[in-house]
Amino acid sequence: MTQTPDEGFADQLRKATWTDHEAAEYTHYMQALLGGQISKDGYAEMVAQHYFAYVALEAAGHALAGDPVAGPFVIPELERVAALEHDLEVLYGAGWRDAIRPSKPTLTYVARINQVADWPGGFVAHHYTRYLGDLSGGQVIRKSAERAYGFSGDEGVGFYNFPEIPDYKAFKIGYRDRLNALGFDEVETRRIVAETLLAYQLNTEVLAELGKRMTEFKVA
Ligand code: HEM
Repeated sequence: MTQTPDEGFADQLRKATWTDHEAAEYTHYMQALLGGQISKDGYAEMVAQHYFAYVALEAAGHALAGDPVAGPFVIPELERVAALEHDLEVLYGAGWRDAIRPSKPTLTYVARINQVADWPGGFVAHHYTRYLGDLSGGQVIRKSAERAYGFSGDEGVGFYNFPEIPDYKAFKIGYRDRLNALGFDEVETRRIVAETLLAYQLNTEVLAELGKRMTEFKVA
């Protein structure tokens, strides 16, 4: 993994993982969701699975806030747990906490996030995979959900809305600058790329499990 002079870590990371991005994007569940073919209950299931992952990810971030590598990525404007709690209340009602369960792949994903919580570079890998995606493809998912379920305002899709970030495009440029400023050596770069590939795979498995329940979720 040799870095060319004009290619920073952010470019390297994107290039090395884009095939796996496609694998996540083109899961059966995701494509059906984008096509408006998933019931509201089926959408709620994905929101529930996100909740367990973000609780773990954001707890790991809080514990690493003072770390020189992870610290710049512990960004309060990105935090999603409160938005997810609100969405879950809309989708499942006041008793949402008793109504949701992590799937087997979600438990595996959460276990991995916890496992790397003492490794700042690993945290960055998981952070990048989720939040940069939420600010990108997440916006496409939001529009599909609004269209399919008739949500208005933040209702049910607060997860995809970052009210404290006025310009997502500018924010993503700044985020990539943070990645480029990390200055990892070749070995650590390789480890982080590998962890990002794993993060994509774990996400894909969560989506694949939802895909297996398609007969339950699919609208006519
Ligand atoms: C509906 C499915 C999806 C669509 C349509 C989609 C679309 C996109 C697009 C167009 C970009 C490029 C944005 C830009 O250059 O600013 C992007 C970036 C990204 N997406 Fe997705 N995506 C989807 C699903 C996912 C999933 C499931 C994940 C992870 C679990 C993910 C993670 C990312 C990440 C990390 C980036 C940033 C790549 C980079 O610039 O380094 N996406 N996505």
